[in-house]
Amino acid sequence: MNDADFKFFTTFLKERSGIALEASKQYLIDTRMAPILKEKKIADLAALVVALKGGDKVLCEMVVEAMTTNETSFFRDVSPFDAFRNEILPRVIERKERERKIQIWSAASSSGQEPYSLAILMREHFPQLAGWGVNILATDLSKEMVQKTTNGEYSQLEVNRGLPAPLLAKYFHRKGVRWQVNDDVRKLLTCRTLNLLENWVGIPTADVVFIRNVLIYFEPDVKKAILGKIRKVLRPGGYLFLGGAESTLNLDSHYKRLDIARSGCFQLEEA
Ligand SMILES: C[S@@+](CC[C@H](N)C(=O)[O-])C[C@H]1O[C@@H](n2cnc3c(N)ncnc32)[C@H](O)[C@@H]1O
Repeated sequence: MNDADFKFFTTFLKERSGIALEASKQYLIDTRMAPILKEKKIADLAALVVALKGGDKVLCEMVVEAMTTNETSFFRDVSPFDAFRNEILPRVIERKERERKIQIWSAASSSGQEPYSLAILMREHFPQLAGWGVNILATDLSKEMVQKTTNGEYSQLEVNRGLPAPLLAKYFHRKGVRWQVNDDVRKLLTCRTLNLLENWVGIPTADVVFIRNVLIYFEPDVKKAILGKIRKVLRPGGYLFLGGAESTLNLDSHYKRLDIARSGCFQLEEA
């Protein structure tokens, strides 16, 4: 890819997804575009750039989705889920005792392991929530990932990553060679596509927002804008979970880091 095409491609990607690609990551374009070139019978990356400039909506979406990194696993990093279980959810339950409704948002949820980990954790350790209105909104830019979350189906390899065997046996059933999350857990999730850069119409007020391992791909101005938008949907005093390499420091002073080991948990100031 020549310099001009690389510049066009990275600007296109950043404008549409926020993902900032460094020059050293050019190999990612080669590997991730190869299947699209083949499927769409496009000769090479230069021809792809010409096609993108033409504005073909389907092709543009395919390219952006293919450039996302969807790495995830059940109970990823463990500590945030321990903090959620031992500290944060008990506080939320106490606060919502009258209303008996809890709204969680897993933004950039990839193929769903994060929201399903939360749903399983709530079913497993908080039987008192039966009869409460609990909803976990799972959103991602990628249509393919949202479809996968909706289906709640995982390979043996995927369930081997982070899901303890007793929880697999209790909350999943076999579907051919794959495993599917049981309906009573699936029904806690609402799944939809959402590009964090676009309008957040229809996002409900949340008690807790998980937005982990996605801000890391964005530049500071985009991170700031997103943290600011989260303040509008997180209730005052609500909780924000970021990934291990992410922080609100120097980006947004309205969140305070909680001193819970390696949890990546922040609290939004009260109104
Ligand atoms: C590395 S995964 C993180 C999944 C999960 N949160 C975790 O920590 O395991 C990053 C996800 O962010 C999504 N993503 C990237 N840019 C996005 C955007 N602008 N809006 C919404 N989702 C985006 C990608 O599609 C991908 O599924």
